[in-house]
Amino acid sequence: MGWLRILAVAGLSLASLARSEPVQYCRRGGPSEIDFCLGALMYSNMSTSSHDLFLTFTVTRHSGSALGWTAVGAGNRMNGALMFIVYGDPLSPTNPPIVSIRTSTSHSRPTLLNRSDLPPGMDLRVISSLWTAPSPTPPNTHTATIHLICYSCALWPTADLSPLSPSQPWIWAWNPSQPFDVYTFDAHLAMHKHHAGAGGWGNFYLDMRRAVSTARYPPSWPPVRPRVDRLGAADTPLSLAGMVTGKGSVVHALGVWLFWAEVRRRRKQVSSAADPASAKLNDTTFVVGDSDEESENEGKAED
Ligand SMILES: *[C@@H]1O[C@H](CO)[C@@H](O)[C@H](O)[C@H]1NC(C)=O
Ligand SMILES: *[C@@H]1O[C@H](CO)[C@@H](O)[C@H](O)[C@H]1NC(C)=O
Ligand SMILES: *[C@@H]1O[C@H](CO)[C@@H](O)[C@H](O)[C@H]1NC(C)=O
Repeated sequence: MGWLRILAVAGLSLASLARSEPVQYCRRGGPSEIDFCLGALMYSNMSTSSHDLFLTFTVTRHSGSALGWTAVGAGNRMNGALMFIVYGDPLSPTNPPIVSIRTSTSHSRPTLLNRSDLPPGMDLRVISSLWTAPSPTPPNTHTATIHLICYSCALWPTADLSPLSPSQPWIWAWNPSQPFDVYTFDAHLAMHKHHAGAGGWGNFYLDMRRAVSTARYPPSWPPVRPRVDRLGAADTPLSLAGMVTGKGSVVHALGVWLFWAEVRRRRKQVSSAADPASAKLNDTTFVVGDSDEESENEGKAED
């Protein structure tokens, strides 16, 4: 009896351990299709008893193109979705990619959100947004890497966004050709291609339950793993059981444990600019200002 019980408990904790890892969805379309990855985790925030959504969003631009925009949004359609739209010029030496956070009500273009549009308790912060240097193969491919946090994100009123959902709906959308006169947060956006299947937009689903971190300290950013397109993610709704196969669960659990250990180790090395705790807010755009000096001073003041 006793042994059975212990085994059962061990099995259960392995099962939940095995699910605890950031999830990932990629469409690596190359030059003629949308090309992005989204890594996500839900951090169980003990001080708010709520969940904070951590996202890593990468957008790959081919041949140095400064045209168009790439978006992902929480929700199963554009209306009411919480959308993260990225555009900019990868060849600009000074301008990081713009992350424009918008939503749309029925029949209207997505409009820029500001902090007063959010329900009390919810907050959004773009922690960093950078173009990486071009990769040698294929030539002149640049990637925008965006890290953002949505605090108490389930409070978002117009789309379901649940940390308990095994099949959280998301949308993606793409415009490959719009030229911009100026890259501003509220820039006018031209439409994506209209019909699903035409490459303009689509749905995907993430197993958010699998991505919940209950660690004591906020985790590091969800990784974007190379050569992985779907992890706890799919193009069609996931079953209630999520995507857990149980295959090699002990090895997998060990891998997950090592992963979180590595995350904790790296967390200490993360620069203060990318540290959510030192994030400084910008009321209109959710962009985090350069706050290195101040946070250092604050740290010293506490010493
Ligand atoms: C925020 O958006 C609302 C409309 O949604 C607008 O009335 C308000 O002026 C905006 N505030 C700022 C600071 O832009
Ligand atoms: C918990 O949420 C609050 C409010 O959204 C935030 O300020 C705080 O940094 C979060 N705590 C952790 C440990 O991230
Ligand atoms: C917020 O960001 C906008 C756009 O980058 C900038 O023009 C504005 O000065 C910033 N506001 C604050 C308070 O930092």
